[in-house]
Amino acid sequence: MTALTDMADLSIEDGIAIITIDNPPVNALSQGVRQGIKDGVAQCLADDSVNAIVLICAGRTFIAGADITEFGGPPKEPGLHPTLADMENSSKPIIAAIHGTALGGGLETALVCNYRVCDAGARFGLPEVNLGLLPGAGGTQRLPRMVGPEKALQMVTSGAQIGADEALREGLVDEIVANDLRAGAIAFARKVLTEKRPLTKIRDREDKLIAARENPELFDKVRKSIARKTRGFLAPEYNIRCIEAAVNLPFEEGVKEERKLFMELMTGSQSAAQQYFFFAERQAAKIPDVPADTPEIPINKVGVIGAGTMGGGISMNMANVGIPVIMVETQQEALDHGLGVIRKNYENTASKGRISAQDVKDRCGLISGSLDLSELADCDLIIEAVFENMELKREIFKKLDEIAKPGAILASNTSALNINEIAAVTSRPEAVIGLHFFSPANVMKLLEIVRGDKSGKDVIKTCMAFAKRIKKTAVLVGVCPGFVGNRILAKRQAQANQLILEGALPHEVDKVLFEFGLPMGPFQMSDLAGLDIGWNKETSKGETIRDVLCEADRRGQKTGTGFYDYDKNRVPSPSPVVEKLILEFSEKTGHQRREISEDEILERCLYPMINEGAKILDEGIAIRASDVDVTWVYGYGWPVYRGGPMHYGDSLGLDKVVATLRKYHEMTGNADFEPAPLMVRLAEEGRGFKDL
Ligand SMILES: NC(=O)c1ccc[n+]([C@@H]2O[C@H](COP(=O)([O-])OP(=O)(O)OC[C@H]3O[C@@H](n4cnc5c(N)ncnc54)[C@H](O)[C@@H]3O)[C@@H](O)[C@H]2O)c1
Repeated sequence: MTALTDMADLSIEDGIAIITIDNPPVNALSQGVRQGIKDGVAQCLADDSVNAIVLICAGRTFIAGADITEFGGPPKEPGLHPTLADMENSSKPIIAAIHGTALGGGLETALVCNYRVCDAGARFGLPEVNLGLLPGAGGTQRLPRMVGPEKALQMVTSGAQIGADEALREGLVDEIVANDLRAGAIAFARKVLTEKRPLTKIRDREDKLIAARENPELFDKVRKSIARKTRGFLAPEYNIRCIEAAVNLPFEEGVKEERKLFMELMTGSQSAAQQYFFFAERQAAKIPDVPADTPEIPINKVGVIGAGTMGGGISMNMANVGIPVIMVETQQEALDHGLGVIRKNYENTASKGRISAQDVKDRCGLISGSLDLSELADCDLIIEAVFENMELKREIFKKLDEIAKPGAILASNTSALNINEIAAVTSRPEAVIGLHFFSPANVMKLLEIVRGDKSGKDVIKTCMAFAKRIKKTAVLVGVCPGFVGNRILAKRQAQANQLILEGALPHEVDKVLFEFGLPMGPFQMSDLAGLDIGWNKETSKGETIRDVLCEADRRGQKTGTGFYDYDKNRVPSPSPVVEKLILEFSEKTGHQRREISEDEILERCLYPMINEGAKILDEGIAIRASDVDVTWVYGYGWPVYRGGPMHYGDSLGLDKVVATLRKYHEMTGNADFEPAPLMVRLAEEGRGFKDL
């Protein structure tokens, strides 16, 4: 065996050369890998004793993609394209031997080989779309030639992977090797030689493209089917255009089109934001003062207090991954209702074919109910999700302190209350922590973990790991009203409320934020949550528009009216009644209504969010700016192609954000526009949050 580079080596066994890539952890296509393949192929072609070449990887996977740490840096020779061209032009057959995952550039490498064999566990995919990109090394041109345009469209627009069996059925691989992949691949190579099989190149194949040429509406059908999910994203559309090019243009032209569209995405802001977010998400798991060897508390049983909106959703998370959970209520009726909603949710999912009837049974079987708090005595983790009321929560934690076993974690799902005050009523504040789930708790990916002053490091470590186990992305934050997510949200809502007093209407504000890429604007969101959260009929004095609407029994979607009118399918339409109420309220409160531009709506809603994020960072409530962004992307649907509010601030330039905030501060006198000292300092130094 000879080393080709420090990431690849070559051995020759009886006329078959084996190039082995070894670049842990995932054999990414780093410079040393490309060089190794290129040199290896060249040596094999020059060596008369070599008749065929097997490309295989050491470790746990085949090449799982590009080395994204090289993105944005100076190009390192050899590039992937010339490397793949050398492979495709090889006069000796090359066989890819695939295990683990052949993803992105890895699959593209396999696609320039003449044959592909894999083991039974191998998986294949082109996930570039998830980074705002497309497969730029011929993948969009070769894949449809192998699996047909329809399957290729599905794969490139979703980034989803297919398994070995499907790959064999679709023609993506030639053989599944039962045991030893290396030996199987060598045997396959010998078969190719003995049978004198042709040196087929995928690029020359046309058979699977012909039907699609007759069926051009195929592409628009796909566009329509993904429109809602991919609103605002460029990459899915560009991926579709590439497959269209593969179908309609000669191979070389298609490759050119792919290259052009790839470069556009690669140099654009969306992919930059999505790549940034890819790292942001991984970074969020790192807690500087919690060492890796901190012990974890085993979680085998979970208790949830309150079977309402949140308690039910939270319990489903546990059942989904096989953890038994017991929900406690004070009234049988509330408990039955809560359990009923969970069952209905699961049945709905099953009716869409996303889980089986057996899953429904198993998951419901894992969720039990009780009216007796003392039944939580054997739980390792107890999550309180009762009404948002400090007195009630303190009372419950006092009882839990007496009931829970030593070492159990006592968590609150409070949206905004002070975790330290809750912890203070117990004799074990180190066991207390905030686990802030987002609604619907069984769907939203974010878990804001709120660290109290005394929360133990083992408790923090356990909760971070537990989040992963229940398939959430956790962000660790400190105690302040609303924590990171809702504290920032409050600033946006304050401006939205102000804008409708000054001249805008709810649907105008919502439209601007929807078009920015958020799933809905602030008024639709308020209607969805219910306008009467925290509102009290007895004490309401019509002091805000919200009060006025609640007093008129317009309490949001659940009552059929709120800021909007809703039809029976809950589709909103602007309400003339609300418009009249707003105009009257504006007048009563002395506002001179004026035309408000879309730019003003956007800036006044979003820039105070960036500003509040800066204050949060300065106070140490969030560990890093990217954690704020993860919170907003996964908790509130901030479009990932804009990175998150802090990344967005950086992309605008903090000097511009500061100047604009100052302009509105002067105009309104509102303190939320006073630029945070941290942001002013960064702007003056020409830096961004990313440089902190
Ligand atoms: N709804 C949201 O969007 C959301 C999001 C994140 C966090 N939260 C927080 O989650 C908590 C619960 O909110 P929700 O929307 O699920 O409220 P909810 O009104 O839907 O549910 C609360 C449940 O708690 C029960 N309950 C009240 N006192 C109890 C007691 N002493 N023992 C046992 N059960 C009791 C009630 O019967 C009710 O079923 C609140 O702290 C809220 O701020 C809510």
